[in-house]
Amino acid sequence: MQANVALFLQAKNNLMSQTKEQKYIQLLPQIKSLIENEENLIANLANIAAAVKETMGYYWVGFYLVESPSVLVLGPFQGPVACTRINYGKGVCGTSWKEDRTVIVPDVDEFPGHIACNSKSRSEIVVPLKRKTRIIGVLDIDHTELHTFDETDAFYLEKILNF
Ligand code: SME
Repeated sequence: MQANVALFLQAKNNLMSQTKEQKYIQLLPQIKSLIENEENLIANLANIAAAVKETMGYYWVGFYLVESPSVLVLGPFQGPVACTRINYGKGVCGTSWKEDRTVIVPDVDEFPGHIACNSKSRSEIVVPLKRKTRIIGVLDIDHTELHTFDETDAFYLEKILNF
């Protein structure tokens, strides 16, 4: 087994009793080691989605990638099947892209224009994915409970996407 995969599996055993911040602190070096020797973007995004979902236990974790100046297309993800295309400025993902900022949605029913790909998703966070200053996609995370995401998620997810 590759050392980086072994490290990840080992760390999973201790997750139950940890706070959100402790889980992220544990996740950061794991993700770094998973992606540092791999240049392929899709491979790295796939492993980031898997590692975040496994460690944090969120319902849906995945990427939408900029396909044209007006459309995001579904990229690597973990969780139930999802919508494939989201227009610029639409939904939480399109808003994060357009406004170039992390968007935290405590209750998706309160977000005007939220795109419901799955009725179980109740709260959401979307973080822009950048290369230099250009947005090339977004990381979208959904969970089945209300009020799941906060500034701790925003801080660590932004850090992860800066690797
Ligand atoms: N809810 C998102 C759409 C993507 S799914 O959550 C996977 C949005 O409003 O942009």
